[in-house]
Amino acid sequence: MKILGIESSCDETAASVVENGRVILSNVINSQIDIHAVYGGVVPEVAARSHIEVINPVINKALTDANLLWDDIDAIAVTYAPGLVGSLLIGTLAARTLAVLKNKPLYPVHHIEAHVYANFLGENAPSFPILALIVSGGHSQLVFFRDHGDFDILGQTQDDAIGEAFDKVAKIIGLPYPGGPSIAKAALSGNPLAYQFPKAKLSGDYDFSFSGLKTAVLRAVQREAGVDFTFPSTGLAELLNDAQRADFAASFQRIAIETLVDKTAKAFRDFSPKSVVIAGGVAANSELRRILSDTIPIKIDYAPINLCTDNAAMVASLGYFQAQSNQPANPLDVEVLPSLSMAKH
Ligand code: KG4
Ligand code: ZN
Repeated sequence: MKILGIESSCDETAASVVENGRVILSNVINSQIDIHAVYGGVVPEVAARSHIEVINPVINKALTDANLLWDDIDAIAVTYAPGLVGSLLIGTLAARTLAVLKNKPLYPVHHIEAHVYANFLGENAPSFPILALIVSGGHSQLVFFRDHGDFDILGQTQDDAIGEAFDKVAKIIGLPYPGGPSIAKAALSGNPLAYQFPKAKLSGDYDFSFSGLKTAVLRAVQREAGVDFTFPSTGLAELLNDAQRADFAASFQRIAIETLVDKTAKAFRDFSPKSVVIAGGVAANSELRRILSDTIPIKIDYAPINLCTDNAAMVASLGYFQAQSNQPANPLDVEVLPSLSMAKH
């Protein structure tokens, strides 16, 4: 079964054809990173406009790269939640229109759940039960999957998502957007023990919190720069040199990763999953991969980095597994749900 996946929930316009949920036949990603970099973050209206401009060419390219015609496509899967409302509308409207015009079954999928399916693409599929650490720009959660579509959220962030914390800290210390890859790169030449930041203590065993860590970095940067706590965070970057930036990046990254790994290791001990996967943009972080592998006593197969950040192959893969047990949606009825939790859908 060949599924065309469409993804437009944030700042990537993507389309991909995947066979039987596992084999990628094409994977087209049009990133808006350069467009938003000048603003230091994603501007929703600009994102929606850019999706409109490229969605049709991106979908056409996914078909031509796969060497397929519409007749060869068995179904369409599209991200309908969560994300930026204007961005979600472009992808879902394209998918709904094509489902009607080309007479294809339509499977709306949840973006965060789809991130987990990056791990089903290719040779090594994980085995259920699966413990998934989902870490993206908008979400940080630990989820226990008994089977496809059958899962419990064990814990989640109580405030900022981990990717958001990477992006905000990068801004404070003057590293370019997106902050995750910039911090990971700067950290390579920094001392991870240069600054001591606190780990949040929370009542929920598997919950996270990153806003205190971000504030601790802000205060430490102010101290290092010799200014008081009222000094605006936007003016701090120019008071640091590259060595200080690298030390802040490495020290922040160490605590952020230890927090994620501590909670994942506890869930591993408590739930004894057969496989552990990480998913979402922050799963691209090689330090996180290394430390998680060193801590968890089973082999972890990581998805390639280009499938960790937003893409449509993961959407097509989840669409395939949903198509095995769910009825398709009525394309005239599909709505976008910008803040829908994975627990509720
Ligand atoms: O999953 P994603 O592409 O979009 C969302 O659904 O949010 O995740 C984007 C997030 C951004 O916060 C970005 O800074 C972070 O993933 N990220 C990383 C790395 N690559 C991307 N964070 C840490 N290390 C990386 N190498
Ligand atoms: Zn994402």
